[in-house]
Amino acid sequence: MGIGYSLLARPMLALMDSEKAHNRAILVLRIISATVIGRMMLRILYKPRVIQSNLFGHTFQNPLGLAAGMDKCAEAMIGWENLGFGFIEIGGVTMEAQNGNPKPRMFRSKRHQALVNRMGFNNPGSDKMAKHLSSTSRPNLPLLLNIGKSKNTSLEDAPHDYSKTAELCRDYVDGFVINVSSPNTPNLRKLQKDEELAKIITAVKNHSSGKIVLVKISPDLEDIQIKSIVDTARSLGCDGVVATNTTVSRPDEQGVMTETGGLSGRPLAKRSTEVIRLIADYTNGEWPIIGVGGISTAEDAWEKIVNGASLIQIYSAMVFKGGSVIKEIVNGLDRKLREHNLPNIQSAVGFARRE
Ligand SMILES: Cc1cc2nc3c(=O)[nH]c(=O)nc-3n(C[C@H](O)[C@H](O)[C@H](O)COP(=O)(O)O)c2cc1C
Repeated sequence: MGIGYSLLARPMLALMDSEKAHNRAILVLRIISATVIGRMMLRILYKPRVIQSNLFGHTFQNPLGLAAGMDKCAEAMIGWENLGFGFIEIGGVTMEAQNGNPKPRMFRSKRHQALVNRMGFNNPGSDKMAKHLSSTSRPNLPLLLNIGKSKNTSLEDAPHDYSKTAELCRDYVDGFVINVSSPNTPNLRKLQKDEELAKIITAVKNHSSGKIVLVKISPDLEDIQIKSIVDTARSLGCDGVVATNTTVSRPDEQGVMTETGGLSGRPLAKRSTEVIRLIADYTNGEWPIIGVGGISTAEDAWEKIVNGASLIQIYSAMVFKGGSVIKEIVNGLDRKLREHNLPNIQSAVGFARRE
């Protein structure tokens, strides 16, 4: 297991370029999880306790998922499953294949436990993605696909761009996350405006065969805009929201990463929780929220859940802490439930709102 263990158990950092380290870690995970022994070793080393919950008509073995962008091309799905995630979000994928922005485009600051990225939706395109998914073993856990708009597609043609991806991939996933909140595609976030968003949601719902449809929102919006997105998405029958994507702001911790792009990791945690709480209060806890942004410990995850998130996701913590963070968070949540005498995750969701 040598190299695999150190790449997965320890942070994926060392002295390597961020993107190279990332690609190598995914490759190692894919190779390890291709064999029965490799999968068994992953489970022995990493698999957390089961804290089962039900949402969107699916069973989740635990509430912690892999956030979008980590496995853009769905290369290591069986690996993520064996590391112990409760669900996976692959992508983002766009209708057209894209190279993304020039490199370097992923930066990290260990001191701030933060990343900045301006990847710009590098992905193989939805046609290739659908073919790949059709010929790859599907993990035995809920699988979401993050979908974005191709850079060359105009804002007017965006509904078709999103819905084409949904149509091509719907047989291979359990649901879609409509990403209108990435800061790295010019003008994408304009699609968060009610009318534009409504057209995209309608188009995706018409082409998704009743699969889960969620909207992922930005932390950089005003409260009133967030409420407006919630109204639009809810009224059109979306199943919930993913809050939040990365931020273009630089919360005023000293010297937090000045590179252009979306900031993730610890400095995002507070704002992401605020957005979750705002939506939970606004919807009276009746509309599912997947909470993401700066979760690195069980305490961070608990904060998101008690403020209204039914499920949670991580990206940056995987970079700084490695695969062992999954067990740390899930087993820590299990302890939290016991401490508070709560029978399951559902009963903890929004706990802080009811106190
Ligand atoms: C390198 C990188 C690529 C990302 N790509 C996507 C993406 O394609 N689609 C998306 O919705 N979010 C993407 N994200 C955002 C994450 O899914 C997540 O919302 C964000 O990083 C906050 O979570 P974290 O603080 O745990 O990292 C990306 C994040 C990073 C760091």
